[in-house]
Amino acid sequence: MALVTSREMFAKALKSDYAVGAFNVNNMEIIQGIVDAAKIENAPLILQVSAGARKYAKPVYLVKLVEAAIKDSGLDIVLHLDHGEDFDICRKCVDDGFTSVMIDGSKYPFEENIALTRQVVEYAHAKGVVVEAELGKLAGIEDNIKVDARSATFTDPDEAAEFVERTGVDSLAISIGTSHGAYKFKGDPYLDFERLQTISKLIPDTPLVLHGASTVLPEFVELCNMYGGNIPGAQGVPEEMIRTAAKYGVCKVNIDTDLRLAMTAEIRRIFAEQPSEFDPRKYLGPGRDAIQKMVQHKIKNVLGASNRR
Ligand code: G3H
Ligand code: 13P
Ligand code: ZN
Repeated sequence: MALVTSREMFAKALKSDYAVGAFNVNNMEIIQGIVDAAKIENAPLILQVSAGARKYAKPVYLVKLVEAAIKDSGLDIVLHLDHGEDFDICRKCVDDGFTSVMIDGSKYPFEENIALTRQVVEYAHAKGVVVEAELGKLAGIEDNIKVDARSATFTDPDEAAEFVERTGVDSLAISIGTSHGAYKFKGDPYLDFERLQTISKLIPDTPLVLHGASTVLPEFVELCNMYGGNIPGAQGVPEEMIRTAAKYGVCKVNIDTDLRLAMTAEIRRIFAEQPSEFDPRKYLGPGRDAIQKMVQHKIKNVLGASNRR
């Protein structure tokens, strides 16, 4: 049991048709719910921290909570920086004990993205830390981009091969039609699997990462709506599409929105049914249990990662 890099986890996942869940964490209850689920399912696990999470909880709290989770569960866990926007935040996380960092240079032109990623790879590798980069842009329906215009932002397979070769990056986040948040598609969900297959054939040894991969489970949307959440029209990636992606080289599947929905739906239910409740343990505890249940479902039925530890 230790903080580990994703090297071994991804090497195993690449050879098979499952993916490792990478879950965003912001506080103790979220960490506990996810880690308990991974323990029960005997699954590999990545916990990831965004810049917003670092600001909210302070890095030292999150690192110590993850260390406590490792001690308590006996699991090996990867601690990953999600969407690092510059060299400085990646360097800080490496120095803070993270075992994996993402440098997200996807908004920059190709050559700038390569130069920035290369800089992070040099620093991180010297300290035994692995690096994820991103090529192609994730756009959501909220960005008001039409489907054909959206596909212009998808990852170019030839560029992906050149990018990996020139940066020495350990894993690559690709854009094939997913987006962050609860509103991913207006009409029928569509992911460009042909593109994904082309990419994975060109760089078969590079683990691919799918961001914006929440499935936005209807039961939680329904619960949120029922208890005053008012989030009609929320739509995620269908579960079978995640399974397909895992067959075509996707080794890491990023999930945040589903955690938010699971926890918030349960807390909303409690306040709707017991408006006079004011003990935080009485709503955060059930929120944690809802996360655990959802993550178990995800690991077992969507990622296929049960007993892959
Ligand atoms: O990709 C974004 C993650 O969902 C993190 O979101 O920046 O609000 O923490 P956040
Ligand atoms: P979701 O918003 O689909 O959960 O995606 C999370 C993510 O990609 C974090 O990097
Ligand atoms: Zn993301």
